[in-house]
This record gives sequence, C-alpha cells and structure tokens, in this order.
Amino acid sequence: MKTNAASMGPARTWGPWTEAKLDALESYLQGFTRASARARGTLYLDLLSGSASNVHRRTGAPIRNSVERALATNPPFSRVVACELNAASAQDLRTKMCAQFPGRDFVVLEGDCNIEVPKYLHDLAKDDPGWRQAPSFAFVDQFSAEISWSTLVELAEFRTANWQGKHRKTELWLLFGDSFIPRGLSGVDGDPSKPVKPEYAERVDRMYGGQQWRDILCGRQQGLLDRSQWRLELVNLMRWRLEHDLGYASTIPLAVPRETGQVLYHMIFATDEQVGDRIMTQVLRNADQALAQMKQDAKVRQLNAGDALFDISTEHLAPDKLGTSFRSEPPLWPWKLPSSRLDS
Ligand SMILES: C[S@@+](CC[C@H](N)C(=O)[O-])C[C@H]1O[C@@H](n2cnc3c(N)ncnc32)[C@H](O)[C@@H]1O
Repeated sequence: MKTNAASMGPARTWGPWTEAKLDALESYLQGFTRASARARGTLYLDLLSGSASNVHRRTGAPIRNSVERALATNPPFSRVVACELNAASAQDLRTKMCAQFPGRDFVVLEGDCNIEVPKYLHDLAKDDPGWRQAPSFAFVDQFSAEISWSTLVELAEFRTANWQGKHRKTELWLLFGDSFIPRGLSGVDGDPSKPVKPEYAERVDRMYGGQQWRDILCGRQQGLLDRSQWRLELVNLMRWRLEHDLGYASTIPLAVPRETGQVLYHMIFATDEQVGDRIMTQVLRNADQALAQMKQDAKVRQLNAGDALFDISTEHLAPDKLGTSFRSEPPLWPWKLPSSRLDS
C-alpha cells in the first residue's frame, strides 16, 4: 500500500463500501443542517468515531472519516462531539481536526461511548438546557455489538419539546452488523451446530436491551430459519425495537455489501421527522446505486485480471439489479419461536 504509515498515525484501511457509507452520511448531514436552519443550534454526535487517518484498502487513497465530514457540513453544525475508546485514535482525531477546523466547537471524548456520551449529554443539558431542543444526529458506527440499548435510549430521550412544542428524538444512524453477529456468537459464520459464546451473547443482549433476539437464534439453531432469514430477522427486530419500544416514527435499513455482493451489515436510520425520512430515502437510494456500481466495477476488474482478449468495461456486463437491497417498508412483527418448539 502506497501510504506513509508514520505520517498517517493510527491509519486504518477500509473497503470501498465504507466510502459509500460515509458519502451517504455526508449527503444526509448537508440536508440535515439545511433543514434545521431555523433552529438555534444543531448537534452532531459520533459515538465510535475512529481516527482521522483512514485509507482505501485497494488504492491506498485517503478516506475522509465521519467526523471530518460532519465538521465540513455546510451550513455547519453548532457543535460536533466525537467519542473514541482507543486513546491514540482519539488523539489523532483531536490533533488533526483542530488543525483543519480551527475555532470550531468540537469535543473529543475518550473512553467507552456507553459511559462517556450519556455523561456528556447530562452535563451539556445541565449547563444549558437549550441543547435539549437542538436538532441532533447521532452516528453509531460500531464494529459489531459495542453499543448498549441504554445508550440509544439516552440519545433518543435527550431531546425535549422544541420551541414549536414538537417532541422529537435524536436521529440515529446505526451500523447493525448482521454478518458479524453470527461470527461473534460462534466463531465461524454463525454455524448453528457450534455452541454460542456466552460473553458475546450477553453483548448482543445489551445491544438489544433484552433477550428477545434469542428466540431468533433458537429458530436458526433448530433449522426453522436459514442463514439469510435469521440475519434479516435480527435486523427487523432492531428496527421494531427502535419504532415500537423507543417510539421512532420510521426506520430505514440499507444493506451494505462487500464487492462480492455478500451483505456485510445494515445501516439503520431512525427518525421522527418526515423531512428526515424523505431526505434519507433519497440519500440511501443513491448509496444503494453506488454500492451496486462498486460490485459491477469489482466484476470488471476480476475479469480483466484474467487472460481476457479484450478489455471489459461495465457496459459489457448485464447491469446489476439496482435497488434490490434497499427496502423502506415498516418492520414486521418480530419472529417468535412456535410454542411447540419452546422446549426443544
Ligand atoms: C468502525 S470504526 C469507526 C469509523 C469512523 N466512523 C470513521 O469514519 O472512520 C469503530 C471505532 O469505534 C471504536 N470503539 C470500539 N468500541 C468503542 C466504545 N465502546 N466506545 C467508543 N469507541 C469505541 C473503535 O476503536 C473504532 O475506532
């Protein structure tokens, strides 16, 4: 990889799907602050913010991280708050972003976001209760199951009624690792014959704020759900909890695949605002197309890497079905183990 690691700091490499996700974040944030122009302040929270040094896995090109994109949003957020567990990454972020965006109201919290962010929000509202009325957006870009349900509750409930008397919650954009969870549970891609690791299962309990998901796990272990069904049921349950237990008006999932087409994770958006839903729907439609293009480009590269007699470009390939992975119907009633199977 053609990067100078010493000057990059704690550089991380990411697949091209990460760039599509961050481009979508950037587009949405522009819409968010524009739609919030009449508010007295806006708040961006990045709970698992990473470092400022990120590169594209294949090309080595730098990738602008989520916090940089939030700070570059125009109109700007009144305050940008990042939280990162890794001390070197937090320091890298602080140094580079403060140099790049001098004078901005920018805070880096170092530590576990499940502790630091609720504490920070509590202090923020104590100092100035006006922040509770500010349109707020939280990006929860976890690896697999680091976030706790209680933190999502704190984020949602941070806001009180605004100056128009409307009660809105902090908007959430959550990475839901439906392909990472099976691996975390049993090591090898959710092999149902393997016993689950209790510590990881407890992390998943904490993320869902309960054990309802274990019904779906039993369904998989008993062969009632296939590999893709059980993963989709996990995504559906998280959306259901966000809408029915936290009370968000709508949730929108986006399937994020790797270049081979295999879905890696879902990004789940939760909002109370019709305008947020509308802007994000358009943003996610574009993201879905960018991801389909990523898959096509990978196919072309793979074909050209062989002994092809002529150069193959995307025009030579049948177009991938764009939009097939993008769904915006409401979540279904969560999957339940049939009562006859409860004791098996
Ligand atoms: C997927 S990366 C975030 C990438 C980032 N959004 C970007 O654009 O580069 C997840 C980050 O969360 C951090 N992390 C893991 N557990 C955490 C926790 N409990 N609290 C805060 N940060 C955490 C990891 O160190 C890692 O840097």
